[in-house]
Amino acid sequence: MALRTLLLGAFSLALLSYGQPETLENHNSSDLLCICNQIAAAISGASQVFFPPAPEYLSDIEHATPSSSESSACSVEPGSAEDVGEILRILGSTRTPFAVKGGGHAFNPGFSSTRGVQIAMTRFNQTKLNSMTSTVDVGAGLIWDQVYKTLEPSGVNVVGGRIPGIGVAGLTLGGGYSLLTNQYGLTLDNVAGYELVLPNGTVTNVTSEDDDLWFGLRGGFNNFGIVTKFIFKSYPQGNVWGGIHLYSDNQLDEIKEALFKYQQKNDTKAEVGVTLGYSSGQLLCVILFFYDAPTPSGVFDDFLDIPATGGNVSTTTFFDYFQSLGSQGTYNNHRVFEDTTSVVQFSPAVFDAFVDQIKLWGARLSALDENATLTVTLEPFDKDIFSHGSASAYPPDRSHVVFPSSLSVEWSNASLDDTMAFALRNMSNTIRAAALADGQDVSHAALYPNYALFGTPLEDMYGGNVERLRKIRAAIDPEDVMGLAGGWKF
Ligand SMILES: Cc1cc2nc3c(=O)[nH]c(=O)nc-3n(C[C@H](O)[C@H](O)[C@H](O)COP(=O)(O)OP(=O)(O)OC[C@H]3O[C@@H](n4cnc5c(N)ncnc54)[C@H](O)[C@@H]3O)c2cc1C
Ligand SMILES: *[C@@H]1O[C@H](CO)[C@@H](O)[C@H](O)[C@H]1NC(C)=O
Ligand SMILES: *[C@@H]1O[C@H](CO)[C@@H](O)[C@H](O)[C@H]1NC(C)=O
Ligand SMILES: *[C@@H]1O[C@H](CO)[C@@H](O)[C@H](O)[C@H]1NC(C)=O
Ligand SMILES: *[C@@H]1O[C@H](CO)[C@@H](O)[C@H](O)[C@H]1NC(C)=O
Ligand SMILES: *[C@@H]1O[C@H](CO)[C@@H](O)[C@H](O)[C@H]1NC(C)=O
Ligand SMILES: *[C@@H]1O[C@H](CO)[C@@H](O)[C@H](O)[C@H]1NC(C)=O
Ligand SMILES: *[C@@H]1O[C@H](CO)[C@@H](O)[C@H](O)[C@H]1NC(C)=O
Ligand SMILES: *[C@@H]1O[C@H](CO)[C@@H](O)[C@H](O)[C@H]1NC(C)=O
Ligand SMILES: *[C@@H]1O[C@H](CO)[C@@H](O)[C@H](O)[C@H]1NC(C)=O
Repeated sequence: MALRTLLLGAFSLALLSYGQPETLENHNSSDLLCICNQIAAAISGASQVFFPPAPEYLSDIEHATPSSSESSACSVEPGSAEDVGEILRILGSTRTPFAVKGGGHAFNPGFSSTRGVQIAMTRFNQTKLNSMTSTVDVGAGLIWDQVYKTLEPSGVNVVGGRIPGIGVAGLTLGGGYSLLTNQYGLTLDNVAGYELVLPNGTVTNVTSEDDDLWFGLRGGFNNFGIVTKFIFKSYPQGNVWGGIHLYSDNQLDEIKEALFKYQQKNDTKAEVGVTLGYSSGQLLCVILFFYDAPTPSGVFDDFLDIPATGGNVSTTTFFDYFQSLGSQGTYNNHRVFEDTTSVVQFSPAVFDAFVDQIKLWGARLSALDENATLTVTLEPFDKDIFSHGSASAYPPDRSHVVFPSSLSVEWSNASLDDTMAFALRNMSNTIRAAALADGQDVSHAALYPNYALFGTPLEDMYGGNVERLRKIRAAIDPEDVMGLAGGWKF
């Protein structure tokens, strides 16, 4: 199995066949054309509307997989927050379905794609370090690769994505599990402020002074408007150690044991991700190691004692390490779905459940589609990760620390979409049941919204926060403008 596939699956999220219901029935193509032209006439010279087959249009609607791409009537690249406001006012008053795309890595169809008007944030592309405040202004159209690269010469870094190609906006607005999370918390715990265009088109700044919006934006995606700029805290960044090692399926017992011991340690500079991948009858394991210093402590020794069958580790710059983890995938034009389950610990019993499920469903799905590849990633973080921030939409309960996992499947045959979604949900539920049987308190363990498969109930991700989030949404967006865009909706 391709290493790239394993890695891309490793931290990926749900991609699926149907997301938000479209409400296009009130708009025929000439209506939409008229709305696109209305937007073109209202925006300033900083912004532009594109129609098919312009290359800008094609890149504006492009997503990580074909299953999450749709052909919109037109695309618009706003170049100023005020123009985003103009666009939202027109879309709201005409009740036109639209989508907001950052990096375009949401796999759930309709979350950042539409057959209405595609807003592509690409022109918000600034990365600016403010050395007075040690904060970094980051435009909402960037991917993390660009941010890390720009910051590298200054010796500082931000708490962002782990794999190349992922957007700043979606990752930050949904949570953000970073290579630096064990030290500094989630990405959303490292935001100092947002520039936000409210659903009524008003441009505003949101900081910790703003009670409700500050709470809601940290985990609430596009429910409260469109973010044009993030202001991140920064930290000094030196050279790092790490890489990936490959193992074969007869080493899984040793890996299970090493993973169990690793979780008893508390070295916050360390991070591992354990990926199991099944393809064409073969089960492989890939472990990602990261240490935020040139030489690791002994924290990985139990893993490193197991002879790897491939891979490499080295000391390098943060940016080179990040780049070595793969290029932005197109998934070979295959379809992809993802789901997630959260556990208190990747105990031996939970590890066995992951292995059993990937073998069982790997064999079943491979029999249906020659290209079926099933990947799970176990993400053991530090027990204190939620202590680095204050109350936010996600995670709903910072006193109940649970760790995410990713379950993803890649395949070809579109008529198997329902089967694939069923398989992922069945796996997630079975592993959750195994964790419960193992004595883990996971009956209300929040699921990570950036990994969750379409159809996941809001309560499973946002817990007791759902009611407050609904009230904030109703107050900020009484006309339900943001309801015209897809995604998790309060
Ligand atoms: C290969 C891979 C690796 C990953 N690695 C990680 C990881 O290390 N850590 C982690 O936490 N997650 C990871 N993820 C999950 C990732 O966080 C989500 O896919 C995230 O939503 C991607 O953000 P995006 O901007 O690329 O997505 P998009 O599809 O552009 O947007 C996602 C959602 O955010 C909304 N949105 C986008 N821009 C804005 C805006 N400006 N204002 C308001 N709403 C907006 C969209 O409307 C959509 O609902 C990974 C995913 C993949 C595929
Ligand atoms: C599109 O719909 C509008 C009403 O919304 C109507 O006036 C117009 O004739 C329709 N155009 C076509 C081509 O169907
Ligand atoms: C930002 O986009 C502008 C054009 O919109 C381009 O000229 C500029 O080079 C881009 N900057 C970066 C850092 O990508
Ligand atoms: C937001 O903050 C920036 C930087 O402090 C400031 O220049 C801008 O005027 C503020 N915008 C609004 C709408 O208050
Ligand atoms: C591992 O080796 C590959 C191929 O030589 C290289 O591109 C990559 O940067 C290396 N990774 C690390 C972390 O050293
Ligand atoms: C790690 O922290 C836990 C409490 O969070 C503690 O019980 C344990 O002894 C610590 N382990 C080490 C090796 O320091
Ligand atoms: C499997 O994927 C390849 C491309 O990677 C494609 O050519 C082939 O048609 C796919 N197989 C099926 C059965 O769809
Ligand atoms: C796709 O799956 C359907 C349903 O299982 C099946 O009938 C069809 O033959 C498959 N197509 C290919 C190309 O394998
Ligand atoms: C998983 O699917 C099987 C059928 O394949 C079913 O018997 C079982 O109850 C399901 N388990 C869960 C937890 O959904
Ligand atoms: C836009 O919404 C905000 C937040 O609800 C509100 O404070 C502001 O007055 C509204 N602006 C207009 C022009 O309606």
